[in-house]
Amino acid sequence: VDHLLGIKYLNPQDIQLIFETADHFKEVINRPIKKVPSLRDITIANLFFENSTRTKLSFELAEKRLSADVINFSSAQSSVKKGETLIDTVNNILSMKVDMVVMRHPNPGAGIFLSKHVKASIVNAGDGAHEHPTQALLDSYSIRERLGDVHGKKVVIVGDILHSRVALSNIFALKLQGAEVMVCGPKTLIPKYIGELGVKVETNLRAALNWCDVANMLRVQNERMDINYFPSTREYTQQFGVDKALLDSLNKEIVIMHPGPINRGVEITSDVADSKQAIILDQVQNGVAIRMAVIYLLASKIKQ
Ligand code: CP
Repeated sequence: VDHLLGIKYLNPQDIQLIFETADHFKEVINRPIKKVPSLRDITIANLFFENSTRTKLSFELAEKRLSADVINFSSAQSSVKKGETLIDTVNNILSMKVDMVVMRHPNPGAGIFLSKHVKASIVNAGDGAHEHPTQALLDSYSIRERLGDVHGKKVVIVGDILHSRVALSNIFALKLQGAEVMVCGPKTLIPKYIGELGVKVETNLRAALNWCDVANMLRVQNERMDINYFPSTREYTQQFGVDKALLDSLNKEIVIMHPGPINRGVEITSDVADSKQAIILDQVQNGVAIRMAVIYLLASKIKQ
């Protein structure tokens, strides 16, 4: 069975195939009739053990646009609360003849663990601070759409790198496509292993923005912080927040990205989030086509 557990298991050809397939589906979902019958014989379970707005709705819409049968599970309203294990929960769902599982889970490696214990294709929709592969794919796809190519582009990822699955998956995806990658944030929020990933490190935001073509602004993930990593939110914003005055003072126009949800006024101000330089809603729109591509390509293997 094939899975999408992380970008680190892909190669550049895999990413190219996903993008070309997404190009086709992007054209499909812009037609008056947005649906194709490709996956009429496939059943997909979306299992969310952690909160989500974009990823959950985007996967569900992608599956429905492909005509798959879809069931949704949220741990908060489930028998997980009565002590059922992850493997038992998933095997019970699979016994209802489910072919593919899309799972978000707070524990890093949850998808990898599951893939070794159940007979279904697993798609990782975010596992703790580990990986969020479809987010990285839609991010690179959005850079390709705005700038023509990812190869050779300079991308800085700003903020809470330590707790971010988006950062790690983006680093893997961007490096596979030949982009130059920098991370920028408080030293306390940059992991010690970052040097092994072949990325630049910068703690001065202005220097990082002057270097880059694209800035991917991350949310400070207070829910994953067990200690104080910086003095206060106000001090974080003073040093690592982007506002319009800072962008206008640069000697070029850079592209602004954000995976959402945004803390408006913390990592970026509203006039930046809503500006023409920002492609934040393009990222969300592209997420549906990217997820259609991923599901379609995995389902093709199930059908063989
Ligand atoms: N970008 C992202 O994963 O958003 P959600 O947490 O709302 O799914």
